[in-house]
Amino acid sequence: MTEAADKPPEKHQEKARSPNAPTEETVLSVKHYTDRMFAFRITRPPTFRFRSGEFVMIGLEGANGKPLLRAYSIASPSWDEELEFFSIKVPDGPLTSRLQAIQPGDKVLLGRKSTGTLVHDALTPGKRLYCFSTGTGLAPFASVIRDPETYARFEQVILTHTCREVGELKYGQELVASLQDDPLVGEHFNRIVHYTTVTREPWPNQERITTCIATGALFADLGVPPFDPAVDRVMICGSMDMINDTKLLCEKAGLREGSNAHPAEFVIEKAFVG
Ligand code: A2P
Repeated sequence: MTEAADKPPEKHQEKARSPNAPTEETVLSVKHYTDRMFAFRITRPPTFRFRSGEFVMIGLEGANGKPLLRAYSIASPSWDEELEFFSIKVPDGPLTSRLQAIQPGDKVLLGRKSTGTLVHDALTPGKRLYCFSTGTGLAPFASVIRDPETYARFEQVILTHTCREVGELKYGQELVASLQDDPLVGEHFNRIVHYTTVTREPWPNQERITTCIATGALFADLGVPPFDPAVDRVMICGSMDMINDTKLLCEKAGLREGSNAHPAEFVIEKAFVG
């Protein structure tokens, strides 16, 4: 009998990590906004590259040792040394029910490749960029709006955010306020419009954004002409229903949906919900 034949079978031996496996990153900060929403920042591997507006898989190690991952828009701009995310808390959500409890120093899994359509490459050149968001659908625009390229490409940027409750607007309000002193985009602050609406609590504008577009109230409030395919470009991020309804309004105005392969006048992406 050889020595090798006498060894126990190696069935419990750990598999080597695949080069495509998620990396383990450290939570740097966590901020809770409401009982439904929170934001957190994690370390960014030096090799991790992305375009502002893209999403990536993030998650936690599951109870069975397998990673539990979901798509998350990256809320920080592509030049930032850290990665920021803005997340919903779903009470029974397999991932968010656990993710909402993370603390600085904890580990989070980060996929190696980002992708997405809420990027400048998927839009043809224009003058005015509308970023329509509901709930945590604001996240990709928190990235886009902090990217100097946005201001090189567009004369005006209109960020709309619609939430059920007033408290859910806070992340976006703090973000936009911080842009005033931002070393990279602060000089363009007067070209940003932040348009907020709340649907289930008193607020100066208590309509869905789709109603504001359909009635023309949005354009009247902003003092701009209605959608014009020659100059207006649109990015949309929210629930499936919100995307579909907003998309129809864009198409009615003659805007066409773009992609990375075929840039056009508007692009869509579903906000992370599970
Ligand atoms: P509402 O309160 O009238 O449902 P959620 O958290 O469910 O994603 O909703 C975020 C915001 O998006 C809410 O203000 C909600 O309004 C709004 N909303 C939901 N569905 C649509 C839709 N189809 N079109 C436009 N806005 C929507």
